[in-house]
Amino acid sequence: MSGDLKWNKIFGAGLGTVFAILVVQQVSGAIFRTEAPEKMGYFVDAPETPAGGAAAVELAPDWGTVLPVADIAAGEAAFARCQACHDIAAGGPNKIGPNLNGVVGRAVASHAGFAYSDAMKAHVSVDPTWTLDALDHFITAPQRYVAGTKMSFAGLRDTQTRVNLIAYLRSQGSAGFPVPAPDPARQPPVAGAADATAAPADGVAAPTDGVADTAAVQVAPAAH
Ligand code: HEC
Repeated sequence: MSGDLKWNKIFGAGLGTVFAILVVQQVSGAIFRTEAPEKMGYFVDAPETPAGGAAAVELAPDWGTVLPVADIAAGEAAFARCQACHDIAAGGPNKIGPNLNGVVGRAVASHAGFAYSDAMKAHVSVDPTWTLDALDHFITAPQRYVAGTKMSFAGLRDTQTRVNLIAYLRSQGSAGFPVPAPDPARQPPVAGAADATAAPADGVAAPTDGVADTAAVQVAPAAH
């Protein structure tokens, strides 16, 4: 976040200067070509920005560190957006999506009585079971991680929200799933980012996962 703030200040200060220079000297448009696209253009689907919050998505969370201290209540709140399609009670029904009780560590596409897409069935060759990393990748961007899945959900871009949510999923029938040892090579998620739970970018049942997120990222810098 501090990277974003700093950049915004630089950009804000620079913008006025650049504008004045343009008026007076007709400086070439190269200034805009080098600066503006960094902000506007590249965050379409892949969560890769040069600095700041979204960069944390590139590295898998250090589960051994973040899971024991995750906010399960916040995870339950985040599950509200899954609930339209998923029941999580033990022995609960399949809805639009399969029952998720015990899903952490469960074999992919294995819940009895649910008609999985061919894409999800084929995904077994990538992830035989729903590991913490596999769930994290899938929930981040379902259609990107399992191309062709029939889960119509845009994805949760905020790492801390996913950590909390996965801690909640684990608490619902998967508590026996082992938490790995802390791994310093993995980067902890950006602290304080859990507020993004309410971000419109994570809307339920969005047909694709590019548009809403792009809009959210474009709006964000103006808030500072
Ligand atoms: C609009 C409905 C919908 C929403 C919202 C939704 N899902 Fe799903 N989910 C599905 C469907 C449908 C499938 C089956 C996908 C397939 O077969 O391709 C699925 C599959 C899954 C699976 C794989 C389960 C298995 O047995 O292999 C997981 C895990 C999952 N969803 C988690 C979540 C989480 C967590 C959320 C909330 C952040 C969520 N889903 C939101 C519809 C939804």
